[in-house]
Order: sequence, then structure tokens, then C-alpha cells
Amino acid sequence: TDFLHIGHKIQTWYSKNARDLPFRNTKDPYKIWICEIVFQQTRIAQGLGHYNRFIERFPDVKTLAEANENEVILHWKGLGYYSRAINIHKASKQIMTEFSGIFPSDYDDILTLKGVGKYTAAAVSSICFGERRAAVDGNFYRVLSRIFADDFDVSQTNAFSYFSELAFLIMPENAGDFNQAMMDLGSEICRPKNPDCGNCPVNDDCLAFALGKVSEFPVKTKK
Ligand code: ADE
Repeated sequence: TDFLHIGHKIQTWYSKNARDLPFRNTKDPYKIWICEIVFQQTRIAQGLGHYNRFIERFPDVKTLAEANENEVILHWKGLGYYSRAINIHKASKQIMTEFSGIFPSDYDDILTLKGVGKYTAAAVSSICFGERRAAVDGNFYRVLSRIFADDFDVSQTNAFSYFSELAFLIMPENAGDFNQAMMDLGSEICRPKNPDCGNCPVNDDCLAFALGKVSEFPVKTKK
């Protein structure tokens, strides 16, 4: 069966409804990397000021690598999970020494950076370098499990690769835009609670919606 039309509808919706975010006007991998680390665990409204101040003080890899750790941590204040800031700082030094100061451009190299996991490597390589990768996060779990009424347990260790395969079924040409479209759809429409199904661009294609079971997905056994 052909599910690509679903991804096309999501992308069309995104082209009209994309949130206006500072990291949307750039393909600078440094900025996208920082934004992915910040906004993976912090809500956009809550972290945007910190993100902007961080980028203003540390506008590129070199500036960050040359800063001292205390100052980096100071700029992270309020965001919590300070290991993220320490890892970012270490990774910036790693880019200086192992990649001659140039942000690595492919998924496997990006994945070697301290604190960078599959989600972040997929987001940066797709958004900045056009690699065909699915940036699978909680939004992907929710949107995809609902569209396909798929009860795969998202707390399983292989959930990332399972949902990555599902994502490829609907992913159009531009993986980077598609990934960001899924993030916006997941946070604006296909919300964890009170999803706005009436305004969803793919409610016609959503099996959970047709079954009246949207609230039953995603399935999660462990917290
Ligand atoms: N959350 C994390 N990264 C994001 C992005 N690129 N767009 C929207 N929300 C996000």
C-alpha cells in the first residue's frame, strides 16, 4: 500500500503552519545541534530565551570550545540537566580536534559526538545535510502509532528503529522538513492530551481516529 500521500499532506500543512522559530531560518549545523539538545527535553516556550542567549554568547563551535566550562554551565542555568551543557562543551572541543573545527556532515560522524544520540544525529543530518533519516522522538511515537493504530510498545529498546521504519513509509523527499513537520504536528495538533483532531491534516488517514481510539495510543508499558 502507498502511504506517501500521508507525508505529503503533513508537509503541505507544515508549509502553511510551521512555527516561526529562530532555528528555522538556518541550516547551520552548530545551531541546529544546540537547538535539538535544548528542545529535546525543554518546551519551546520555556527554552527559547535560553537558546537565544546561548547562541548570542557562543555563536559558533570555536567560541564554545574556547570558553570555560563554568561559563557554559552558567548560560545553561534554568534549563536543567546540566550534563547536556557539559557534553555540548566537550563535543565542541571534539569537533575542533577530531574534525578540524568543521561540524561533521554525516550521520555516523555526528553520532560520535559526546551527548549526541540517534535522534539528534538524525535531526542534524537531515535538516542541515539532506540525509534521509527519521528524527524519531515522542512526537513520532504519538503521530505514527495513532495513524497506523500501532500498539508497538514505545518503551521497548527497539522502538526507535521500529518507528523509524514506519516513518519511512510516509516520508516524502525532504527528510529535514518532514522531521520538523512531524515535531510541529505532534506538539500543535496531535497532542498527548486533548489532540485537535478536527484540525488535523491527516485525520482522514488516521486509523486510531477512525476507530475512536486516539487516546489509546501510543502504547507505553514502562515509564
Ligand atoms: N523540538 C526539537 N527540535 C525541534 C525542531 N527542530 N522543530 C520543532 N520542535 C523541535
